[in-house]
Amino acid sequence: MRICCIGAGYVGGPTMTMFARKCPDLMVDVVDINADRISAWNSDKLPVFEPGLDEIVREVRGKNLFFSTDIDAAIDAADIVFISVNTPTKTYGYGAGSAADISYVESCARRIAEVSKSGKIVVEKSTMPVRTADAIKSILKSSGLGFQVLSNPEFLAEGTAMKDLENPDRVLIGGDEDTPEGRGAIEALASIYARWVPREKILKTNLWSSELSKLTANAFLAQRISSINAISALCEATGADVDEVACAVGSDSRIGSKFLRSSVGYGGSCFQKDLLNLVYLCEHFNLPEVAKYWRGVIEINAYQKRRFAETIVNSLFRNIRGKRIAIFGFAFKENTNDTRESPAIDVCRDFLNEHAHLAFYDPKVSSLQICRDLGISMGDKRVEFCRTPYDAADKAHAIVLLTQWEEFKNLDYKKIKGAMLNPAWIFDGRNCLDHRLLLELGFSLRGIGKGNIA
Ligand code: NAD
Ligand code: UGA
Repeated sequence: MRICCIGAGYVGGPTMTMFARKCPDLMVDVVDINADRISAWNSDKLPVFEPGLDEIVREVRGKNLFFSTDIDAAIDAADIVFISVNTPTKTYGYGAGSAADISYVESCARRIAEVSKSGKIVVEKSTMPVRTADAIKSILKSSGLGFQVLSNPEFLAEGTAMKDLENPDRVLIGGDEDTPEGRGAIEALASIYARWVPREKILKTNLWSSELSKLTANAFLAQRISSINAISALCEATGADVDEVACAVGSDSRIGSKFLRSSVGYGGSCFQKDLLNLVYLCEHFNLPEVAKYWRGVIEINAYQKRRFAETIVNSLFRNIRGKRIAIFGFAFKENTNDTRESPAIDVCRDFLNEHAHLAFYDPKVSSLQICRDLGISMGDKRVEFCRTPYDAADKAHAIVLLTQWEEFKNLDYKKIKGAMLNPAWIFDGRNCLDHRLLLELGFSLRGIGKGNIA
């Protein structure tokens, strides 16, 4: 059997690498229109950083995993075609700012219809608005060949992608359960996953349930973060400690302890866009109360980022003009080089608007990427890129920790304190440092939702 995945991004690359590893007899082609990305996948420096990914790519690349720009040939040779292209928020026309832009998905469907000489199983791997499969089906129908469309959304999280792919909580396959061809297609895909995923974890549903489950799962996850972040503001006002509250609340087995880490706000390419998409769908289906409910999750996240940046400016005597501020971490979370929708972008933009001088350190994000995200040129005098966190903190007024990289927990903060200006401030946007120790060392400190620290 041969499979093809259109889209060699954060999902397509790692997902297909796991398929190739677990099924040595399966030939896997990953194709993309972006030639630079494909050549990076074929090089020693992969375009995506994920713990464990490099080793597996090296093991299977050239054996049963191939990266190429020859999209048509890969489609034509495949029995199953995955569509794993980006589905960003639409920036133009109807639904601009909230609907999902499915133009990349549509162009894949058209390509499949045009170049295929036989019917295939076409799998939506990208996150889609509910009922996108209808559009794909009607485009494929024009070819006159027998295609089956499945929805198989991806639930991996960046930074733990390989672990999540190897041992998923569930695999979801939506398809046309009412016809023998539909049931056959669902089983064909299920039997690939069953090579390493226990059968009871492979859930089969109709197409619309599968599409909507993906949006709902992300909305629930984002909602938990906004819920605890909303409470963090109340903690700061009342003297409660949000980590203690989260621990007490999360100990209730009905609530559960995961995803209750209060922070500067969630980032990443999907929570914001998928929530916006959900809001758009609710409005489209004339459910304004439901739309308003989910919009609240987005609003709290924006509030949290703004609130954190304002707290910092206020603590530094409401003046950060010309002050050196060390930025610890720029990725949207630890263990990834991805900066899409990173809260660091909004916080740093606010600082630049206040004319601060920013000294960046992130172990995986390039200076070029940071400049692109902030919309500034590489030579901009207001920013500096440092090789170590110690260099960034040297003569700084404040350290602002925005990504929970493990290495930040183990730095020599005594040495750092000695090299900073006084009062030496640390703003821990992830509540991941040892606050007691930092206070003992003489730092001025603010975390998130920590009512009682000075
Ligand atoms: P990405 O931007 O990293 O990768 C998408 C790739 O598709 C790009 O390399 C782009 O060049 C390519 N592409 C676009 N149009 C194409 C076309 N017509 N032909 C060939 N290639 C084309 O995106 P991603 O992060 O991998 O996300 C892909 C989808 O998966 C999205 O719908 C996203 O919501 C969903 N998803 C992402 C994650 C994640 O952690 N990033 C997790 C679960 C689901
Ligand atoms: C998220 C989901 O966890 C995945 O299941 C989903 O497949 C993916 O979105 C997607 O559809 O793209 P991801 O965005 O990669 O994965 O990473 P998360 O671990 O969910 O973190 C998202 C953001 O929330 C990060 O900025 C993280 O720092 C923040 N976060 C997470 C918190 O602030 N607090 C928490 O308790 C957990």
